[in-house]
Amino acid sequence: MRSPRSAYSLLLLAGLVRAQTGVTDPIAENCGPSVVCVNKYANVLPYHFFRNVSTSSVQTTFGDTTVANGTSLDNVKSADFLVFDKERGLKVLGSNPSYEYVFEVSKAVHEAPVYVASQNKLYLSQLAPPPGYLPQLVIDLNQDPPTLSEFLSDPPVYAPNGGTFHDGKIIWGASGGNNSIGGGEQRVGLRALDPNTNKTTSLLNNYFGFYFNTIDDLAVNQKTGDIWFTDPQYSWFNELTDTPPQLPCASYRYSPKSGAVFVVDDTIAQPNGIAFSPDYSVVYISDTGSVSGPVDPKYGHPGTPFNATGHRTIYAFDISPDGATVSNKRALYLAPGYVPDGLKVAANGYILTGNGRGVDVLDPHGQLILTVQTNYTVQNFAWTGPELKTLWLMGQGGISKVEWELAGPELK
Ligand SMILES: *[C@@H]1O[C@H](CO)[C@@H](O)[C@H](O)[C@H]1NC(C)=O
Ligand SMILES: *[C@@H]1O[C@H](CO)[C@@H](O)[C@H](O)[C@H]1NC(C)=O
Ligand SMILES: *[C@@H]1O[C@H](CO)[C@@H](O)[C@H](O)[C@H]1NC(C)=O
Ligand SMILES: *[C@@H]1O[C@H](CO)[C@@H](O)[C@H](O)[C@H]1NC(C)=O
Ligand SMILES: *[C@@H]1O[C@H](CO)[C@@H](O)[C@H](O)[C@H]1NC(C)=O
Ligand SMILES: *[C@@H]1O[C@H](CO)[C@@H](O)[C@H](O)[C@H]1NC(C)=O
Repeated sequence: MRSPRSAYSLLLLAGLVRAQTGVTDPIAENCGPSVVCVNKYANVLPYHFFRNVSTSSVQTTFGDTTVANGTSLDNVKSADFLVFDKERGLKVLGSNPSYEYVFEVSKAVHEAPVYVASQNKLYLSQLAPPPGYLPQLVIDLNQDPPTLSEFLSDPPVYAPNGGTFHDGKIIWGASGGNNSIGGGEQRVGLRALDPNTNKTTSLLNNYFGFYFNTIDDLAVNQKTGDIWFTDPQYSWFNELTDTPPQLPCASYRYSPKSGAVFVVDDTIAQPNGIAFSPDYSVVYISDTGSVSGPVDPKYGHPGTPFNATGHRTIYAFDISPDGATVSNKRALYLAPGYVPDGLKVAANGYILTGNGRGVDVLDPHGQLILTVQTNYTVQNFAWTGPELKTLWLMGQGGISKVEWELAGPELK
């Protein structure tokens, strides 16, 4: 027989279910072809709701949340564009936004996209697998439809993981370390590619004799000419280098004039994307520490399992007026879906980050404006076209493109 007390609890529970207040209604609504607007960030979901945590192989999106005892948010899940801030989000999309899956590529990481406007070509990299893969890729945007082909520089550069365009050259963060590849030894470092001659030059390959770990991503401060880069430890985890980390994870500023390398931060678990605000007063660095592994060589190359309670936040730092140092580290955005991988800033100051199955667009306070949703894990992205209003996205299993009104910064 039921005790009076538990009968009372059941009544109370039923009352609470009936009395759920403040539920976002509707949670989401159609805002255009393949555009879905989420109201008030879905701040109060009807019980019972649940979103499974992401894993290395399955990254959940907000649309995977089930609500009200199991209803799927089908329109949210399938939309190309998920708008959270209606006013600013629809402005970013403009009147005729489009998303197109353009190239099917391998499940390898695809990274370091750099647009060379004078050639109307987009260079990008493909990392392992297979181990030891040496060429890069290039998308020729002069062709209709665009073509994708392999590209080999002279000398070849192993595993660019980040890149930008500066002073007529592609600057790569090369993340591979190998005694014998492409006709010689290669160590993690900064390289420059002249896209007119296909010749490459090394800019930096050591820190007082030590190998860098991974040089993952980089950005040039156009005011000072310094190259800022992040140095997490992924190349060891993912078997892109033959030497276990000799340095802690850190972010650096390299002065090409003097050759000096300055550590700017060593507090981030795995520093990854790096980008400047348009006026170079702020630098953003993402922490992808929730994708990590042990550095002790006794575990071999451990891969990078995802840990949902690890670090996956974009931080902002103020840059001193002379462009030399940073201060005032603050958390800006915790990437919900996966880790904030590639990081770039639009001409208007909005911050874009790859976040598992898509790209999130944030304002400078870290407020999510909209998400571009993909069916593959996005590592990085770059703007192309005469007005820099086409965004190419790439990652594990796909290369796609977005046409919208959000222009990229002009890189000179
Ligand atoms: C959550 O995901 C795990 C695997 O990633 C799966 O085994 C489990 O069934 C999922 N749980 C729910 C409630 O979907
Ligand atoms: C969920 O299911 C319970 C039990 O069947 C029911 O009392 C409740 O009203 C349902 N909630 C919603 C939001 O449909
Ligand atoms: C080094 O390069 C060779 C190809 O020259 C490749 O077979 C090997 O897997 C590479 N090792 C590492 C750790 O990158
Ligand atoms: C550079 O490489 C591209 C692609 O392989 C090729 O089409 C072009 O002719 C090369 N340029 C020079 C100057 O060798
Ligand atoms: C995940 O990270 C948390 C710290 O955020 C740690 O306590 C936990 O042990 C980690 N889990 C695994 C499986 O490594
Ligand atoms: C993504 O969708 C496209 C069609 O839009 C399909 O061709 C492709 O195989 C899908 N890719 C993955 C990784 O699911």
